[in-house]
Amino acid sequence: MKEAKKIDELPRYLDQEILNQEIVSPEMLSFRSEVNRIRQLYNSAMQVASTQLNILDAEFSSVYDHSPIHHLECRVKKLDSIIEKLLRKGYEVTPDNFHRIRDIAGIRVICNYVDDIYYLRNLLIGNSDFQLLRERDYIQQPKENGYRSLHLILNVPFMIAEGRMALPVEIQLRTIAMDMWASLEHELRYKSNRDFSTQESRQLLECAQTLADLDQKMQLLFCGKEEGGE
Ligand code: GTP
Ligand code: MG
Repeated sequence: MKEAKKIDELPRYLDQEILNQEIVSPEMLSFRSEVNRIRQLYNSAMQVASTQLNILDAEFSSVYDHSPIHHLECRVKKLDSIIEKLLRKGYEVTPDNFHRIRDIAGIRVICNYVDDIYYLRNLLIGNSDFQLLRERDYIQQPKENGYRSLHLILNVPFMIAEGRMALPVEIQLRTIAMDMWASLEHELRYKSNRDFSTQESRQLLECAQTLADLDQKMQLLFCGKEEGGE
């Protein structure tokens, strides 16, 4: 069992990384190389999942005239965010504990319509090699602040030199409207670096509801168009 990294060493480590200086401590060097390896493995799982989603997108665009996917955004969590989350959840900052965070690899799938989200969800969990580890439906049950999205955590298998392995990838499926709200709310929250006032929270909730109504209207328009055969 490896010795836990002392918390007071971490900021020093991060400073060094930001300044891109030589890291002198061998312990820090091995920490960095372990972190790089772990991030690379999560990146592999993310590539497999995003390739599968891109295949579906291309398939739908060529065979049908509608793809449920508007676009994808992929990221592997940066080290400082991993550390922040480990500390927030009360875990020691050691590479051995990284597996406790299941959104190190994340894919955001922006869909055109609400129905597209569930269509893709069913395809992903019904017909792929990806095992469903967790599902949270914040569309059926939005968060109190108005946040909407469907979150899946899928265990994604891939091959490395040592053999086969699988790692979790968090997939957030949302419409363009849900994405707009989440992006702006996130920016507002971080920009002001404070909690929202009651009035601001109420306004954000109203915006979320307006966008949900819009999604519903657009969905109906799309269904009508399909029935009309145009
Ligand atoms: P985290 O520890 O924050 O990852 O929470 P969790 O593991 O319990 O997952 P949860 O389902 O709450 O949501 C995780 C992710 O969804 C976050 O990292 C965000 O990307 C997104 N998310 C969840 N809630 C909100 C929200 O209120 N606003 C915005 N903008 N994004 C949110
Ligand atoms: Mg997260």
